[in-house]
Amino acid sequence: MGQYFDNDKLKSEINLFKTKILDREYSFYTDNGVFSKNKLDFGTRTLIESINLDELHGKVLDVGCGYGVIDIVLSKITDAFFEGIDVNLRALHLAKMNAKLNNTDNVKFYESNVYENVNSKYNFIITNPPIRAGKKIVYDIVMNARFHLEENGILYIVIRKEQGAKSMVRDLSKYYKTEVIAKNKGFFVIKCNLH
Ligand SMILES: C[S@@+](CC[C@H](N)C(=O)[O-])C[C@H]1O[C@@H](n2cnc3c(N)ncnc32)[C@H](O)[C@@H]1O
Repeated sequence: MGQYFDNDKLKSEINLFKTKILDREYSFYTDNGVFSKNKLDFGTRTLIESINLDELHGKVLDVGCGYGVIDIVLSKITDAFFEGIDVNLRALHLAKMNAKLNNTDNVKFYESNVYENVNSKYNFIITNPPIRAGKKIVYDIVMNARFHLEENGILYIVIRKEQGAKSMVRDLSKYYKTEVIAKNKGFFVIKCNLH
């Protein structure tokens, strides 16, 4: 079965949707072969709306950034600097277009398979992880985030209950102080602090 990030051969049909998040309007270009191409994903929305914006600062890494929603929205309402990484080149191209479309400079998007091209440390790592890529990659993203966080760094994750949220919370607790900060229609938002 094809993955939504395995899209080299898919015909391009760029689409534009508008959405309101945290009382602001945004527009996003999407395309075939990218995650949630018709509308903002409900898990992504729940994640953005659950983050404590007052504490968001410094450098933030979004692992599996797709067409850039998390970084673009949060860069418009905080002073933090955002980096988004993905393996999907089409999604990364859209993310750069979307940053321009929504007039934000506080973002940078680049290709990286998990943390392969990440050379820095971050105050925050945020992810709506690629469940369809398999547990090994999802666990690589969330468990190894700790090696890319500054001291006192925080990791935010959104995952559905039926995609293994409860066992993930248990496994994360081995490495992080772990808390479920929101539950909405089966989506869990998990906040992890480095011990
Ligand atoms: C659930 S989507 C989230 C997209 C976006 N953050 C959002 O919330 O709309 C997960 C993303 O992870 C990306 N991805 C898949 N495998 C990856 C990997 N090995 N390294 C980095 N990103 C990956 C996919 O291409 C996809 O864009």
